[in-house]
Amino acid sequence: MKLVPDRRTVLKRSLLAASAVVFAPSPVRAMADTVANEPEVTATEDLMREHGVIRRALLVYQECVPRLRENAGALDPASLQGTARLFRDFGENYHERMLEEQHIFPVVGKASAELAKYADILISQHARGREITDYVLSVTSGKKIAAVYAEPLAKAFEGLVRMYENHAAREDTIIFPAWKKNFSNKQLDELADEFEEIETRVFGKDGFEEAEKSISVIEGGLGFSDLAQFTAPPPPGG
Ligand SMILES: [Fe+2]
Ligand SMILES: [Fe+2]
Repeated sequence: MKLVPDRRTVLKRSLLAASAVVFAPSPVRAMADTVANEPEVTATEDLMREHGVIRRALLVYQECVPRLRENAGALDPASLQGTARLFRDFGENYHERMLEEQHIFPVVGKASAELAKYADILISQHARGREITDYVLSVTSGKKIAAVYAEPLAKAFEGLVRMYENHAAREDTIIFPAWKKNFSNKQLDELADEFEEIETRVFGKDGFEEAEKSISVIEGGLGFSDLAQFTAPPPPGG
């Protein structure tokens, strides 16, 4: 998954350029060497930015909850159908099934009984998420969302968002760091390449970039593109 150069890549390039052109003194060259030895996009960074796409899908669901309760008939089911398909293809079938369940949880589960228990819960939450996605796909396949589905769908969204926000936050802060501890920098670099190869094999192109574009289009269609609309109001008396 190659994106525009990140800050570290830019720093590395500028340091390498400086050392090549100016015959820089040894401290600069030594710093460039240190930076050059770091992996450009780590495996855990990949997993966490995939969570970013998944969270944006969850935010679409969350923002649609009041709309469902006010007037479900006015809500475009195609936007929710598209979000559920993205959640299925990118979140469930790729991120969860091919990366976490194949590569992350088996390693973490061997580290301690506590982490093994965590992995079991996370796997059962993946399964529950899939059931909810099946439901979302089924009730948003028509031209309109039937009134009878408005409240059950709103409740399904609330349950999924609550579960998955807890789920992804624990993965980011407990599971991924525990997984990373099992490998050297060189091995992590190789795993990052392996994850990238899986992604290319599954999507035939840059899956992250495509998924990010897809959620952007969905957000645009629902009027969620403007980030400023989500700035919180000032506190009372502020
Ligand atoms: Fe997960
Ligand atoms: Fe995850």
